[in-house]
Amino acid sequence: MHLRISRSAALFLLPLALALPTAAGQKPAAPAKGVEDFRETSASEFVGTDTCKSCHEHDAASRSYDHGPHWKTERDVRGVSWQGCETCHGPGKAHVDSGGDKSKIIRFPELTAEKASRICLDCHETDEDNTAFAHSRHLTAGVGCTSCHSEHKTQVVLKQLQASDPELCYSCHQETRPELSRSFHDPVNEGLVGCSSCHNPHGAFQSKLLRS
Ligand code: HEC
Ligand code: HEC
Ligand code: HEC
Ligand code: HEC
Ligand code: HEC
Ligand code: HEC
Repeated sequence: MHLRISRSAALFLLPLALALPTAAGQKPAAPAKGVEDFRETSASEFVGTDTCKSCHEHDAASRSYDHGPHWKTERDVRGVSWQGCETCHGPGKAHVDSGGDKSKIIRFPELTAEKASRICLDCHETDEDNTAFAHSRHLTAGVGCTSCHSEHKTQVVLKQLQASDPELCYSCHQETRPELSRSFHDPVNEGLVGCSSCHNPHGAFQSKLLRS
């Protein structure tokens, strides 16, 4: 629990460090790969969701966005860097000006689990379930938000999960399947409780990601 201090310190320092080059008056660089902290980037580097859709309207990306929860970010009062496609993909102007250069937009598969998760945690760290994620066994083992959740994949289930619980968990924890089939205590395979009834996949202050 003492770890919370260093996390909030990091939250203050990161935006400052990244804001410096733009403050020096240089042409702001395109969001280089891995530059996951872009919230302080000048508003003029953002183009807005309608512009993204003008080229991506036929992609699954735009459809899943419209049907998912994140269109609601368009109402985020903190400003353009918190809204729409660019709240996750970062400022899009350089990508648009270049006619769609992939290296000038944040692409999640290119990010480490930690950097990808940082983008999500900017909004979700205050969710009750997520407060321990930054130091969870999952993140420290390289399992980030987008290992379990997907924004655009068409096979997503409830809560933007890539598969339902327990299948999602079994996909990496095969070893628990025989154990739980043997145990008459845990009706997991009968679908009565999920693994997340006992574990918090987002991290917990108890060991073994246990909720209590
Ligand atoms: C002028 C048209 C255009 C606009 C506007 C545009 N894009 Fe793109 N985008 C493209 C093209 C073309 C590609 C594919 C490039 C390739 O395959 O090399 C692409 C690729 C991407 C990729 C990478 C896809 C992959 O395969 O990994 C992402 C992510 C992306 N765009 C997001 C956005 C976002 C977010 C916006 C708004 C900020 C946006 N785009 C606006 C044309 C556009
Ligand atoms: C909540 C964060 C988030 C928002 C908002 C978001 N994306 Fe994505 N995007 C992702 C993630 C994560 C991936 C990696 C693939 C996945 O997890 O589905 C991705 C992948 C993509 C890709 C690569 C191709 C694909 O389908 O995998 C494109 C293109 C794209 N996004 C465009 C957009 C556009 C256009 C918008 C707005 C209409 C948008 N995204 C909004 C997180 C987001
Ligand atoms: C700008 C803030 C913001 C960012 C960044 C963001 N989200 Fe969200 N997210 C939201 C909002 C707002 C909702 C809708 C909450 C509601 O409906 O009450 C939401 C909802 C969700 C849900 C719940 C879906 C459901 O059906 O209950 C999941 C899962 C989620 N986000 C995952 C992610 C992931 C993963 C990322 C990073 C790739 C991410 N979010 C980035 C603001 C954000
Ligand atoms: C190991 C898999 C896993 C990882 C990693 C993960 N999640 Fe989840 N997430 C789940 C499962 C399973 C659920 C549904 C059960 C639950 O609510 O605990 C869920 C639910 C959620 C919800 C909905 C909560 C609600 O009350 O409805 C949000 C929002 C969310 N996750 C965001 C995130 C964010 C943001 C990250 C990264 C910081 C993340 N998740 C990482 C598996 C994961
Ligand atoms: C009824 C509650 C309960 C359910 C349901 C449950 N677990 Fe557990 N799990 C536990 C407890 C308690 C421990 C700690 C046991 C110990 O330390 O000996 C544990 C430990 C673990 C461990 C760590 C094992 C180790 O040796 O360190 C993993 C991984 C795990 N569970 C995954 C899962 C998965 C995946 C599911 C769903 C298929 C699941 N659990 C369902 C209660 C549960
Ligand atoms: C993308 C792969 C992946 C998915 C999906 C996944 N895990 Fe894990 N999980 C890991 C890795 C890697 C570790 C760390 C190594 C280990 O302890 O086995 C881990 C560790 C754990 C631990 C042990 C924590 C500790 O303190 O020892 C538990 C419990 C656990 N996961 C539960 C779950 C549950 C519940 C789900 C489904 C909601 C899930 N995992 C989904 C990869 C995954």
